[in-house]
Amino acid sequence: MEKFPLLLSARSAVAALNEKTHAASLALRSRLGRPAKLAVILVGDDPASVIYTRKKGEAALRLGMAHESFHFPASVSPSEVQALTERLNADPGVDGILIQRPLPAGFDDAEVLYWIHPSKDVDAFHPENHGRLILGLPGMLPCTPVGILALLDHYGIPVESRTACVVGRSAIVGKPMAGLLLRRNATVIQAHRHTRDLPEITRTAEILIVATGSAGLIGPEHVRPGAVVIDVGIHRSAEGKLSGDVRFAEVSPLCSAISPVPGGVGPMTIAALMANTVLAAETAATPSTSQ
Ligand SMILES: NC(=O)c1ccc[n+]([C@@H]2O[C@H](COP(=O)([O-])OP(=O)(O)OC[C@H]3O[C@@H](n4cnc5c(N)ncnc54)[C@H](OP(=O)(O)O)[C@@H]3O)[C@@H](O)[C@H]2O)c1
Repeated sequence: MEKFPLLLSARSAVAALNEKTHAASLALRSRLGRPAKLAVILVGDDPASVIYTRKKGEAALRLGMAHESFHFPASVSPSEVQALTERLNADPGVDGILIQRPLPAGFDDAEVLYWIHPSKDVDAFHPENHGRLILGLPGMLPCTPVGILALLDHYGIPVESRTACVVGRSAIVGKPMAGLLLRRNATVIQAHRHTRDLPEITRTAEILIVATGSAGLIGPEHVRPGAVVIDVGIHRSAEGKLSGDVRFAEVSPLCSAISPVPGGVGPMTIAALMANTVLAAETAATPSTSQ
């Protein structure tokens, strides 16, 4: 009898996470006398960014939060966007802020990371939040890695003591993903372009998480039979069809579980962003007990 892998579809996992976020958002709304508020800054007209920005705003409204988006032309000076960010940092009515990436040429990505105050940094890209993650201190956690762990948890897939390989070491996905897996007591391997014999390394993984931005990079030769495979990549063909970094049709017969593209990691990322916005508002409204 042919065996099928468990399809790690985001639908039910997003519904479960959103239900908790919605309840927390409504409770906070009655406690504060106002909804938690997310501010989204978009620079330029990158079509994917325009769609993501709209989806984030719609999700916030659906979950009982407020949302405001700020759209600048690509020609705007970075100092103008920084000035807006500083105003939003100082505004007690704004709980979460994000700056949609990619930013146009002229913006220094490394410098922009410092603009949003760590307590309102719902993408958790600020170096302070990254450091807190690595040190195991409380702080904002980045949405895609958190969404991936929520997806694994939702489907009852254990992480502790398992060998996990993350392919990719970007600041927004690969590195924090490895850090979070380590916090959950996985044995973590991080692979990248300089990894010698990638298939030999990835075949050791019980959990394989791929975030390379290289369409169809991962085939059956990279996958240990019975592995759980999570595909973070998003690629759009000329016909508008979405696919990932993993060759789904070839790889899925080998896996015990695999996430699809679309409908896997992407929707989890937005759900995690909404949870972070409520968390930021809750933290701001809770008096600190530390000296
Ligand atoms: N679903 C979501 O919500 C979501 C969120 C964020 C990103 N994404 C998608 O995830 C993908 C990755 O995004 P990112 O921002 O992490 O990308 P990125 O900043 O371009 O980083 C890609 C990483 O993959 C590694 N890599 C690339 N090609 C490789 C290869 N052939 N072999 C081994 N390693 C390789 C690179 O290694 P080096 O460091 O050695 O160059 C780099 O560390 C993209 O498709 C992006 O659109 C999806």
